[in-house]
Amino acid sequence: MSQQQNQLKQQVAAAALKYIDEGMILGVGTGSTVNCLIDLLPQIKLKGAVASSQVTQDKLEALGIEVMDLNYVGELDLYIDGADEVNPNLQLIKGGGGALTREKIVAAASKQFICMVDESKWVTQLGREFPVPIEVLPQARSYVARELVKLGGEPVYREGFVTDYGNVILDTYQLDIDSASEMEQILNNIVGVVCNGIFAANQADTLLIAKQSGVETLKR
Ligand code: A5P
Repeated sequence: MSQQQNQLKQQVAAAALKYIDEGMILGVGTGSTVNCLIDLLPQIKLKGAVASSQVTQDKLEALGIEVMDLNYVGELDLYIDGADEVNPNLQLIKGGGGALTREKIVAAASKQFICMVDESKWVTQLGREFPVPIEVLPQARSYVARELVKLGGEPVYREGFVTDYGNVILDTYQLDIDSASEMEQILNNIVGVVCNGIFAANQADTLLIAKQSGVETLKR
């Protein structure tokens, strides 16, 4: 990552910090942008946090922030996470770090989802450059790959990677994502798919996008 991109990530994380209230239970995403936010969290007295990955959980706990089980905290007021791509409808591709399933669960369980990105993540159509990560039960890997090829996709097995849930990831290129909502549902309907990295049903409510000129805010 260039120094410039790192600075943009820090700027957008600082902008996201302003949305967090004292005493909140915060949903915390995964990735290098979120790591910039986690570094700032000790400035706010949280009641606790729900982590979207083991990596995030470890970082939060190292700072003394209590990490809670989503099953016992009910609906969260706020979830903050990054993304690999975002389109003008604030629909996303996520899962570059492999945490897509837990990220989607926490996003779904939150009233508001704030997504933080630097301008390199902005695209007019999802999936043209970044592949769609698809979490798959290990036994179904070859079957799901064949189904993805039938859809025009080019699945690539993420070698040596196992998700927090013990599954594998097929990074899928060349899917024609004219409608992100439709493609999200089509992928979900393939037997053996646990979750896919298109966030259309659980798109961002607010996008903070860091540009050289400053951080812009878009709402849906
Ligand atoms: C993690 O699984 C992803 O969904 C991340 O949110 C995404 O990859 C963004 O990561 P960076 O902030 O590192 O770009």
